[in-house]
Order: sequence, then C-alpha cells, then structure tokens
Amino acid sequence: MERSALDALLADMSLQEKIEQLVQLNGDFYGGADMLTGPAAQFKLTKEQPYRTGSVLSEHGAEKLRKLQDDFMAEQPHHIPALFMEDVIHGYRTIFPAPIAQGCSFDPELTREISEAAAKEASAAGVHVTFAPMADLVRDSRWGRCMESTGEDTYLNSLYAAAAVKGFQGDNCGEKGRVASCVKHFAAYGAVQSGRDYNVTELSQRTLRQDYLPAYKAAIDAGAELVMTAFNTVDRIPCTLNKKLMNGILRGEFGFDGVLISDYNAIGEAMVFGAAEDKRDAAKKAIECGCDIDMVSDCYINNLADLVKSGEISEELIDKAVMRVLELKNKLGLFENPYKDGSVESEKAVIYCNEHLALSRRAAVECSVLLKNKGALPLKKGGKVVVAGALCDSRDITGSWAIFAEKDKTVTLRQALTELYGGENIEFYPADTADEKLLSAAAQADTVILALGEHEMMTGESRSRAEIYLPEEQRKLFADIAAVNKNTAVVLFGGRPLAIPELAENAAAILAVWLPGTHGAYAVADMLYGAENPSGKLSMSIPYCAGQLPISYAAFNTGRPYPDGAKGFIPFLSNYMDVPNKPLYSFGEGLSYTEFEYSPVELDSNILTCGGKITASVTVKNTGKMRGAEAVQMYIRDIKGSVVRPLRELKGVEKIRLEAGESRRVSFEISCDMLKFYDENMDYVCENGAFTVYIGGSSLTENSADFTLEGI
Ligand code: NOJ
Repeated sequence: MERSALDALLADMSLQEKIEQLVQLNGDFYGGADMLTGPAAQFKLTKEQPYRTGSVLSEHGAEKLRKLQDDFMAEQPHHIPALFMEDVIHGYRTIFPAPIAQGCSFDPELTREISEAAAKEASAAGVHVTFAPMADLVRDSRWGRCMESTGEDTYLNSLYAAAAVKGFQGDNCGEKGRVASCVKHFAAYGAVQSGRDYNVTELSQRTLRQDYLPAYKAAIDAGAELVMTAFNTVDRIPCTLNKKLMNGILRGEFGFDGVLISDYNAIGEAMVFGAAEDKRDAAKKAIECGCDIDMVSDCYINNLADLVKSGEISEELIDKAVMRVLELKNKLGLFENPYKDGSVESEKAVIYCNEHLALSRRAAVECSVLLKNKGALPLKKGGKVVVAGALCDSRDITGSWAIFAEKDKTVTLRQALTELYGGENIEFYPADTADEKLLSAAAQADTVILALGEHEMMTGESRSRAEIYLPEEQRKLFADIAAVNKNTAVVLFGGRPLAIPELAENAAAILAVWLPGTHGAYAVADMLYGAENPSGKLSMSIPYCAGQLPISYAAFNTGRPYPDGAKGFIPFLSNYMDVPNKPLYSFGEGLSYTEFEYSPVELDSNILTCGGKITASVTVKNTGKMRGAEAVQMYIRDIKGSVVRPLRELKGVEKIRLEAGESRRVSFEISCDMLKFYDENMDYVCENGAFTVYIGGSSLTENSADFTLEGI
C-alpha cells in the first residue's frame, strides 16, 4: 500500500478504532472466553472488541491464525488485519541452543542462521513478529534470564543482536519466511539489582550508555522493526514511562521510528511501581513516551479516548502511534495478504525439517564449552562407561521459551548415546541419587559421565536464584561418585553460569552444554566420543559463588589492585578474604580436544593517528591431532583516560577452523572509533595515549603489543 493510502485510511478511522490498534491482547481473549467473568469482562470490553485490536500475543498455528485473521477482518470496521506476535526466542518448534549458549559460539553468523530457521518455521505458522532478540547485557547469573542473553560483553552482544535481526527479517520482513524482529528489553533489564527479576536498576549514565545501550542500538541499526520496553526502572523511572530513555535516547538519538511496544502489562505495573497515579495517568505517560502498543493491560483501551477528549493529550499523538502500527502491517504485506506465510502446507514443509534438525545438532557443537579436561574426554571406544544424573534422560533441556516445541521431539542424552554409540559399553542410571547399584557400577567403570545442572524451568523469566550452586542432591551425587571413581566427567546443562567450585576441583572433565536444543543431545554424544570437537568459549564468566556478582572480565584496576599471580588474601588491597577476584572460569575461556598455538602479536605500526588505522596480527596453529575451531579474540586496554577505563575490552572476534597441523594468519584492524568512550563530559571521544592490544584464545591471554594514539 502507498503511504498516501495509509494516510487516507488513518484519516477515515474513528478515535476508538485508532486506539484499538494500539492494544494487544493475548490468547485468553479469543477462546470464546466467558464475557461475564473472563479477561474481556475484567477489561470491560464488548464481545467484539478483542477482534478489533491491532495485535495478538501467544496465538499460533497456521490454521488457527488464518481463522482468527478472518474474524478480525470481518469485525474491524476498515478490515484491518491483526499482527500476530510471539516469543520465538531460539526456535519455534525446532529448538536451537539457548541464547546464552549461542553467545558461547563466538560466531554471530550461527545466530543469523538459527534466527533465519526460527523465522521460517514461525512465519509458516502464521506468526508476523517475534519478541527477539533480547539484547540485555548481563553480568549477574542470579538473574534467570541469563539464558536469554548472549552474555556479559557489550561488543559481542552487539554482534549477536544485529545478526539475529538480520536472520529474522532478512532484507525485508515482508519476504516469505521472514518475521519482524522486536529487540528487547529497552533498557538495561539485565542490570536488575541483585539479579532479582523485575527489580530496579541503579546505573550511572556512563555505564548505561557505554555498556548497556550499544547492543539495542546495534539491533536497531540492523533494522529491527520493533522495540520492547523493559519492566525495570532506569534512573528510578519505569522504562515504559521514561521520557529521557524513550523520547530522548531511543527516538531522538537512535532515530528509531518503528513500533515501540510495552512489555506485558508494563504500563499497568508502572502504576504499581508508584510512578503513576492510576491507569489513566500511566496511559498518558506511556503514550507521551512514544509507546505505541499496550501489551495486555487495559490502560490504553480504557483511558486514551478520555485523555484525548479532555485535551490532556492530542489526537495527533495517537495518530503517530497508529501510523507506526499501520506501517508495520504494510511492511509485512498484510494489507495484500493478511495471513502472510501462514499455511498448513508450509508448516508441514519447514517445521522439524531435516535442515533445521541438523542445524540444531551442529549449533550445539559450536556452543558447548569444554571447561576442564584432565584427559577423561573424548571417551575411548570400548571402555566401560556409566552415565548417571537425572538430566541424562530428560527432555527438559530445551529451555523455558521452547513453548511451541513438541516435547517428544527432544532427544535426550540417553537416547542419543544409545542410538549413536549403543554398540559401546554404556550403562544408564538416570537419577540424582547414588544407590548401591550405581556406586558399584561407577567404581568399576572406566569413566563416569554425570549429567548435572539445571533443568529448563530453573532458568528463564522469573527464575532468579540467590544461590547459584548445583542443586543439593546433585552436589551429593557428584561427591559420592567422584569418591569411587576419579575419572568422573560432567556434562553441565543449564541456562546460567552456575557456581561449580567442586567440579572445577574434582571433576575429570566438564563440558558445559547449556540448553542444547531439539537434537543437541546428538552433538553432546558426538563430543563425548570425539566425533565432534567442542569449540564454544564462555560468553559469561563463571563465578566461584554468588557473592562475586556482578562479575565481568571488563573490570577496573581500582587504586589498590590485587597483583597478578599473587596467592591468598592481602589486606588493604581490593580483594576478598574468602574467594579470588577473578571468576572460576573467565569470559572467552574454553578448551578443545586439540591445541592452538598463537604467535606473538604483530602491529604494522605502533602509532595510530587520528582517523587512521593499524593492523594487529597473529598466526594461529592447530598443534594437536584433531580438526578444531578456535575463536580468536582481540582485546584492547586503554591505559589511562579522563575517566577510569576497563582492564580490557573485547574489540574483535574471528572464529577459524583448522585441520591438525594447519596455521592461519588472523588480522584485526584497529581504528580510532573502536577506542571511543564517554569522557568526563559525557562526550563520546577517544583520547591520545598508550594502549595495549591482546590477541589470544580467552580474556586471560597475555599475548600483547603496545601502541599509542596520537593527533586527536
Ligand atoms: C514478558 C517478557 O518479559 C517478554 O520478554 C516477553 O516477550 C513478553 N512477556 C511476551 O510474552
């Protein structure tokens, strides 16, 4: 539709109709809900009104959505189709590794592929918009939503956020197989205090802008059509009503002109926060912030008309919001084809197709992190193996957002091992307690594999934990088994970095596989037997204990730094009496079944001048016996600045694949722009002075070279 036709449509709509376009209801309103007692009655809606709203959340399936769209078209006075929005986070029916796992691939292209596959399945099922990616930076694994984040790093999260948007939308979300992408949760939801969900944040403007905002911005620059507001406060104002954040930064500085949608009932909750008098006041403040769609609260539907009539807000404000919603429908091509790609035939063709299942398997190899290996892995063929722990035969390993997945399609580790390596000598004890039978089998085994960690409902929205150790019975299981067999390796599931000091100390190997997805267990089996080589690197540091949180490799020196290489507590320096400052496993760490050797960092010049570029290079050699992939990481330290600068920041990543014995030269350009930060006046600048560039296989690398920036 031409823009002039949209203008004409808007001009012809009544105020009530326009407001209805700004309302999103969920599936509860469409199941023939009882009008006297159901949700529609609570919202004081007429029987028809749910079918006149602009969008719907949580209905899915081509057949159902085509029928629902017909109902909308029949009921809406101008036959405006509805937008169907869903949480397709890491897969629709075929589930891929959770975002925290994808983060560990250090390969944004993989996230693009995964998002593309997810979009194909979702769009075939009639979905138009996905509430992804979640670009929230997180440095606190008490927060359950770690599993939805790609991790602790600003730069890496930005790459993933952009890649996900590209995967979902392609060049144009109206194309077949594409959905529009809604980046969330704007802003800084990952900084909720104490890792408790829905809490407030306390961030300096500098930290907000320097660390938290860039990944949302990257998604917007990649073309994300929608943004979702966050539940939390920023600067003590709920984000959904936060004018500086929404009008100032999002619409103003970032130039975002797409649809802004509240999180679920976030407009209503702003009132509960105590930041609005009542729902009417909350509606007024939210629409004034440019929040176009009210997700499942009755604030807009019951108050906007009155606010316009009383002159408290202008109808023009409503018009702007409605036009953004209409424009999105137009971009998706819904005026021409209201079902978009939703068709039962397409569903049959793409959902759980071999290509997607194969991708879920391949991705799990890229995302799994080998944290420790004292030679226990890969397993030797023919050895006697005992596999224990409830998670070894559990389907609860896809994630709490796998809401559309068919449970029986998820392959368990036991199934995968039996199917692929059934000829080997493997026994299974799928329980979290060690009875006598298991203990004696474990004592006689060459290797014990324990499947430990969190099942899928222990992480995700609202699943915050104050302690982040393994569940008590699993700690006991590990202690009991490790006492009878030193060759006990752990396959660690879960959605957050768990504190695992006892595993780090006593396990013979630890393979973190996160929530690996529908066919991820096949990849785990292959990695255990060495048919595949794990190549993930941690995108979130693993702490010793919750007391270290928040934690990141991008820490600050302090005025009293703890010396590198020192041991034990040193009074009056910045350190703890009971645990080290560094995490148990740092960002970027991850082993392989092969070894990679790095040559010293070479710079083509030690002086970078204003506007110029220099190149830092290394040669990486696979010195082991197996083919493997390595995420080569470049970090930069700005030694001194007008504000305190982190000890190092990731500024470049390249994942390379090398055959045994093969070498590759890897080069990274360093430009002035990469060295910019918010200075003491909050200007985004770079400053002359000394820098160190590090290139290696983790954030702990000391392989470095120095350069200076001049002429600024
Ligand atoms: C609340 C969550 O915070 C958000 O991430 C999600 O997209 C919405 N619910 C819709 O389900």
